[in-house]
Amino acid sequence: MDGEIEIVAESKLGPELRRELLGWFEAEFGRADRWAAPDYYVLLFLDGQLAGCLGILDTKVRVETEMIQVGGIGGVATRPKFRHRDVARAMLSRAREFMNENLDVEFGLLLCRHEVSPVYARSGWIIVPGPTTFIRGDAVAKYANDTMILSLTGRPCPQGRIDMLGLPW
Ligand SMILES: CC(C)(COP(=O)(O)OP(=O)(O)OC[C@H]1O[C@@H](n2cnc3c(N)ncnc32)[C@H](O)[C@@H]1OP(=O)(O)O)[C@@H](O)C(=O)NCCC(=O)NCCS
Repeated sequence: MDGEIEIVAESKLGPELRRELLGWFEAEFGRADRWAAPDYYVLLFLDGQLAGCLGILDTKVRVETEMIQVGGIGGVATRPKFRHRDVARAMLSRAREFMNENLDVEFGLLLCRHEVSPVYARSGWIIVPGPTTFIRGDAVAKYANDTMILSLTGRPCPQGRIDMLGLPW
């Protein structure tokens, strides 16, 4: 796949790109303020156009009683005309490399609808039973779809209840 991949810190986004990413996110996933904002974006360009993006958070979750620093992956999207060309796979591979080299984390963690989970499974992510909870408004909610974890160090994925300690991503 001959794309160009860039990683940009959220704080370094120009206003135009920030607007484009926000509009795209809301078109795919609904109101952005219902989700935790990423710290970094992986952006993939094909034929000079923005074809795909995903967000990376450098954050903590609690698994049972253990606090674990994780690389959170969210807002994975490929523009319809670029789908099924390994854009998501290439972005996930770059995100994995970035988490390994730049973040002090042992695991990646993401939420997804079950039907989309093969996209991540083919990049080494596995479904864990959780259950996973997060907080929206004043309410604690249990995620009804899949929680997936990627081990970055070979350490086995932690088992048990996962508390995202705030908004989901
Ligand atoms: C899910 C999404 C990011 C995949 O992007 P993509 O660049 O087409 O994915 P890739 O080309 O890297 O991977 C394609 C493979 O993953 C799987 N796959 C891709 N999209 C899938 C989907 N929607 N459901 C199930 N499997 C899917 C298939 O095995 C596919 O192989 P194929 O191309 O031979 O059919 C894209 O469909 C999208 O933007 N969807 C809307 C937003 C969304 O749902 N994001 C996921 C949030 S968790």
